[in-house]
Amino acid sequence: MGYVDPAVVPTIAHELNLSVAEVHGVVSFYRDFRSAPPAPTQVRICRAEACQAVGGEALAHHAATLRAPGAVDVDDVFCLGNCSLGPSVIVNGRLHGRMTAARLDALVAEQPEAQA
Ligand code: FES
Repeated sequence: MGYVDPAVVPTIAHELNLSVAEVHGVVSFYRDFRSAPPAPTQVRICRAEACQAVGGEALAHHAATLRAPGAVDVDDVFCLGNCSLGPSVIVNGRLHGRMTAARLDALVAEQPEAQA
């Protein structure tokens, strides 16, 4: 997972025949674009209804405690298409269902970059 360095926005705008403001607007609006390098561990937690009904809200509150600038990013998403196995999370691109706080702690701890 990369990012769009603000220094290259003028080059992107020029190559796409867009204004710098248009490119900046897209990069800053969509949450899948970043302007800075992401943390090595990415956690995306489902906040949609089916996961909320099976403990997703409590899991989201727990996940928020795992945030560590430069080490762990935690983002909310709204449905990962794994509703019947909620609460669902994605950790570094891999989908996990029936997540618990303890399992999430273990998953984050076992990410290679998190151990450094
Ligand atoms: S509601 Fe969570 S995966 Fe669909």
